[in-house]
Amino acid sequence: MIAHLVKTFSNRDMGKVISIVNQKGGVGKTTLTYNLGSALWQSKAKVLLIDNDPQANLTTYTQTQTLITIDEIYVSRKFEGFEKNQFSTILGEGFSLLGADSMLAGVEYYLASRGDKEFVLKNALSLVKDQFDYIIIDNPPALNMLTVNGLVASDYVVVPVQLEYFSLEGIVALEKTIASLKEKNPHLELLGIVPNMFDDRRKLNWEVLEALKKEFGEKVFETKIHDCVKIAESSGHGKNIFQYHPKGRSSKEFNALAEELGSKCTIKN
Ligand SMILES: Nc1ncnc2c1ncn2[C@@H]1O[C@H](COP(=O)(O)OP(=O)(O)OP(=O)(O)O)[C@@H](O)[C@H]1O
Ligand SMILES: [Mg+2]
Repeated sequence: MIAHLVKTFSNRDMGKVISIVNQKGGVGKTTLTYNLGSALWQSKAKVLLIDNDPQANLTTYTQTQTLITIDEIYVSRKFEGFEKNQFSTILGEGFSLLGADSMLAGVEYYLASRGDKEFVLKNALSLVKDQFDYIIIDNPPALNMLTVNGLVASDYVVVPVQLEYFSLEGIVALEKTIASLKEKNPHLELLGIVPNMFDDRRKLNWEVLEALKKEFGEKVFETKIHDCVKIAESSGHGKNIFQYHPKGRSSKEFNALAEELGSKCTIKN
């Protein structure tokens, strides 16, 4: 169904790194990372998910035993695991995780004294970029040095938002951060904004969606992820939405989102 997602990147050098970012907490970054990654993997893409958040929610959510953790990369530059692709497998071959644990919280301190502090993740990923079609980075709810590493390592930024008035301000702040990193990563681009937890009955959601489209035009994804209790439940059960509620609306929405993301990347290619 979304075979072109793989075909697009049949030249493995073309694997895309996508950062999921929003400095606001609880907007669905981790949920999006796992379910979007799952949808892409189910369409036969090779996918690496990276937990770049000391909360380690993605690592918990995927219920995956971590082999190497991202703090080892940041602190001791253990890149060997990267070269040999010793990542943890999530649900099957071609779906991998670079997990995190709470040690990541102390990493900013280590990074502060290093000259290449913004480039550590980028340098590590350059060793494996050709092995994947998509590398998706789940970032913490802050524009801190971990997020900067995520952004410097990425080709694209995807921003999940809840449709509230303050969301617009958050995206403007994020755009400024992207602009300020141009020197360090000239290719970085806002791929799109994903309306999440959408409720058709809430007038405010429609109003803010309208305002977002006015401000950001085609950057707003056509696909909306509706507010759905099955999504909230699925994370508690350590399952992606395709395992937890395969025939439900949310599964269709995440598939549609993966397809839309694939075509947005293709256009940019
Ligand atoms: N579309 C949705 N419908 C219902 N619940 C959702 C939806 N998206 C996310 N959630 C729930 O909202 C909560 C927050 O989501 P999530 O952890 O993905 O946000 P986050 O942006 O990663 O948070 P943080 O900023 O703390 O990292 C979770 O309990 C998740 O299951
Ligand atoms: Mg999160």
